[in-house]
Amino acid sequence: MNTLHRLDGQLHLEDVALSRLAEQFDTPLYVYSRQALETAYQAYADALADTPHLICYAVKANSSLAILNLFARLGAGFDIVSGGELARVLAAGGNPAKVVFSGVGKTVQEMRAALEAGILCFNVESASELQRLNRIAGDMGKTAPVSFRVNPDVDPKTHPYISTGLKENKFGVAIADAPALYRLAASLPHLQVTGIDCHIGSQLIDLSPLSDAADRVLALVDTLAAEGIALHHIDLGGGIGIRYHDETPPDLAAYGRELAARFKGRSEKLMLEPGRSLVGNAGLLLTRVEYLKPGEDKNFAIVDAAMNDLMRPALYEAYHEIVAVDQRNAPSLRYDVVGPICETGDFLGVARDLSIEEGDLLALLSAGAYGMSMASNYNSRPRAAEILIDKNEIHLIRERETQASLMAGERLVY
Ligand code: LLP
Repeated sequence: MNTLHRLDGQLHLEDVALSRLAEQFDTPLYVYSRQALETAYQAYADALADTPHLICYAVKANSSLAILNLFARLGAGFDIVSGGELARVLAAGGNPAKVVFSGVGKTVQEMRAALEAGILCFNVESASELQRLNRIAGDMGKTAPVSFRVNPDVDPKTHPYISTGLKENKFGVAIADAPALYRLAASLPHLQVTGIDCHIGSQLIDLSPLSDAADRVLALVDTLAAEGIALHHIDLGGGIGIRYHDETPPDLAAYGRELAARFKGRSEKLMLEPGRSLVGNAGLLLTRVEYLKPGEDKNFAIVDAAMNDLMRPALYEAYHEIVAVDQRNAPSLRYDVVGPICETGDFLGVARDLSIEEGDLLALLSAGAYGMSMASNYNSRPRAAEILIDKNEIHLIRERETQASLMAGERLVY
């Protein structure tokens, strides 16, 4: 997180001391850096500068309106997976003509809403979905733009991080089945075939599976063209990893060069669906140490954030760096940093060396992606507030939930 730095021992994001935010807005608190968000977007734009392209931010990574609005103003399109995400993109001023709709289970209502909005493309994942979309578009007197999400079946043994692009995954259609499906799509009256899509997995650290997938998709595009099915865009999905701990994520410029070489002389527009790599290292979760609990085998630091705020450690045993907001000159002790939720799985970090006292603040880094967007109300905990820092300006972009807002939709039975 490169907009994070220490000034007189105090951790700052851009020009704002994190301790000040905790005092003003309480904890747990998500804090994002505008500069980091914009820099991450610009890195994609620069890497792809030589290739006609559209960057469709994967809304699921962080769907807060202010963040969507910021990307919309930078010119981004959006990759959505639900009617809820479409509503958010529209509310944030996103251009529906730059929206692609992914996902294996699009409902009738979601298809209608997306057709009404006039999105760029439906990334279709099955023959049944194709038929349903054709029927709905016909009912509405519209033509639905479609792509198939193909599953390139990239070898899992050599690339263990890949989790969605394999034959056995629920996602996409097999590359071998794609030509017949494209023929079917071209024959249906209320559809217009516009592109092709693939997404092979997330937090990819190695570029080679992405390149392999791109090669397989491009070969298929050429086969289709030979049959007279010409596509306008090729969407290679998201998946570029970020540094959480000691990973060396792919170099975007190198990826851009690989893509430029492959797209040189081609007429199709390149599209990508990055999520994590645009927001992950632009955000942190600020939390306060409630109790220190020394033990025979382990010491626990019990903090006021929990698995409901940041689910990734509990769900994936994911690593998030944890740093003390104010430096102390005492020797550090080894702690498991845990939340107050009644589950053993409620940990945020295991065996971390920290010099802390009760009441101190900790920052959980790299929490901008799949943090707030996966937060829940488990244990009746209101979801955290969110702050966007812009140099020395502090913007509250989402209020902390209240008990009243949590109970608002509930009814007693008499
Ligand atoms: N496109 C599609 C169709 C996707 O399914 C995803 C992520 C993306 C794009 C964006 O991938 P990214 O660039 O963020 O890697 N909750 C997990 C990650 C799940 C990713 C799901 N799909 C986590 O916290 O690591």
